[in-house]
Parts: sequence; structure tokens; C-alpha cells
Amino acid sequence: MRVKIIGSAAGGGFPQWNCNYRLSRAARAGNAGVRPRTQSSLAASADGRGWVLFNASPDIRQQIAETPELQPQPGEALRSTPIRAVVLTNADVDHVAGLLSLRERQPFAIYATEQVLSALRANSIFNVLDPSIVPRHRLMENQETSIHDAEGNETGMRIETFAVPGKIALYLEDASRPNDNFGSESGDTIAVRLAGSRPESSAFYIPGCARIDPDLRQRLSGASCLLFDGTVYTDDEMVTAGVGTKTGTRMGHLAMSGESGSIARLADVPISRRIFVHINNTNPVLDENSHEHAAVRSAGWEVAHDGMEIEL
Ligand code: MLT
Ligand code: MN
Repeated sequence: MRVKIIGSAAGGGFPQWNCNYRLSRAARAGNAGVRPRTQSSLAASADGRGWVLFNASPDIRQQIAETPELQPQPGEALRSTPIRAVVLTNADVDHVAGLLSLRERQPFAIYATEQVLSALRANSIFNVLDPSIVPRHRLMENQETSIHDAEGNETGMRIETFAVPGKIALYLEDASRPNDNFGSESGDTIAVRLAGSRPESSAFYIPGCARIDPDLRQRLSGASCLLFDGTVYTDDEMVTAGVGTKTGTRMGHLAMSGESGSIARLADVPISRRIFVHINNTNPVLDENSHEHAAVRSAGWEVAHDGMEIEL
């Protein structure tokens, strides 16, 4: 199986359109070691021909333009795509807005939890994807799902999904329930396990995660590859950068550093390859010359960039 990280930044991308922070400025200026990145998405293929997207980012048009494998192939129909299905891990804007760019009456299948499907139903603009052409399938947690295309043909992609600690999408927050994680429920954010071509190989895709609990540590044990929430390096990074008031915790994202951060909490879990994805434009690891980048690398982690490929 081939896995391609087509978008490695968090919501807003890197540089973000209105961001004047030093990192976005450096990316805009083309500084060495500070690569621009598009918003959070992954593409995977079991047969090298059909592709399944994991999340559809607002940058999907650019991502397809930069990824020949996702473009209409020679000899195929005048309107065609190798994209067979889209799996959604939550209803965040950076993960669903790209669906709107996949209109044009092109068949593919959508897979998501009931919560995410209900967010799509509640926002009628998603009806640009006519469900009779783009069927929507409910993902059931803790069971294996074979991903099929719109016509019901197998893509060869087998996944398992499970809920991870997280937060409901920003625009779905219930402000009257601040102590209740703003109305978040189990299943608002999920992890995806992609089964590799060999029985023992697997990749986990978890672009949003608020906490690493014993259950998650156990599930990840023995993984061939982990693509994990790398939104912030320190919890209060957006505050200290002066660009916002929200902590990583408030946004449902666990920091990389610190005692309860992802690096420390997963240090003793056997995982062959660990890669940070969904990286926010305030995260200093985006600068390959930073000491934070060096610290992450020496802890055995990689920092994803767009176009990074993994063979499973
Ligand atoms: C997140 O990852 O927390 C969201 O994408 C934030 C947002 O909606 O901008
Ligand atoms: Mn996001």
C-alpha cells in the first residue's frame, strides 16, 4: 500500500492567508528549511491506481494539481478521477471543505461517523454532492471496513476506526457547555488504522487528538507507522506567539512537548515510524533550523511535509 501525505499543515495552512507571524513570513519569503504546506489530508492506494483520500481539505484543488496520481489518467473517460472514496476523521473545516471542490457529478463514496454525516446533512451546501451520485456511508467504530467506490467495487483499502479524545468542530461548539468540552461526544474525532499489504503492517492516521490514554497507547503498540496530531509544540504557543487566545488543549490538540505531550507519552510504545502531521503555522518545528525541530527529530519523530510518501 502507498500512503501520500498531500497536506501536512493544520487549518489555515502554511503560510496562512492572514498570518504575519515570523514563521508564515519566513515561508512566504522562501527561506531555506521553511517549506510551505497545504491543509491536512492523506491519500492512500492499495493497488497504485485507485486512491482513497483521508479528509478533503480546502486546498484539495492544489493538492490534486501537485499529485499526478490523483489526476484523470490517460485513456480514462473524459470526466474521471482515480479518487474512489473520501474518509473523514471529523467535521472540521480543514477536513470537509474540500468536498465542495469535488462536485461536478463525479461518483465517489464518502465514509464518516454519524456525527460527521449529520454535520454534512445540516449544511445544505454539501448537497452539491448529490447522494445518489456520491453515496455517504456510516463508519462504525471498532470494526473493519472495506472501502468501496460509488459503484460498490472494492478499492482494496481496509480500515478500522475508533474514537479518540478530541473536540467537536469549532462551528458546532455549544457555548453553553464549556465544562462539557463544548458538547463534544465520543466519535466527533476518530483515529483510522489502515491495514498494510502485509498482515502485520499498519498505519494509524490521527490528525486530531486531545490526550493519549492507556487505550490509545495499547492500540498503537506495534504499529508500522503513526501519523499523529502535530498541531502545536507547546500548549500555549498561539498565546505566546501573540496570534490568538486559544491553547492546544482548548482546541482539542495535544502538544508535542512536555510531560503529557505526545513525544513523552509515546516514547516507550513500540512504533516503527512516527510522523507529525496537521502542523499549525505557529509550531516552531516548521523551521528545520529550529532547536524544536532538532528536538523532535532526536526523539525519533519526523515532521511531515507535503508529498511525503510511505510504503506499507
Ligand atoms: C482544528 O484542527 O482544531 C480545526 O481545524 C480548527 C479550525 O476549524 O480552524
Ligand atoms: Mn484541523
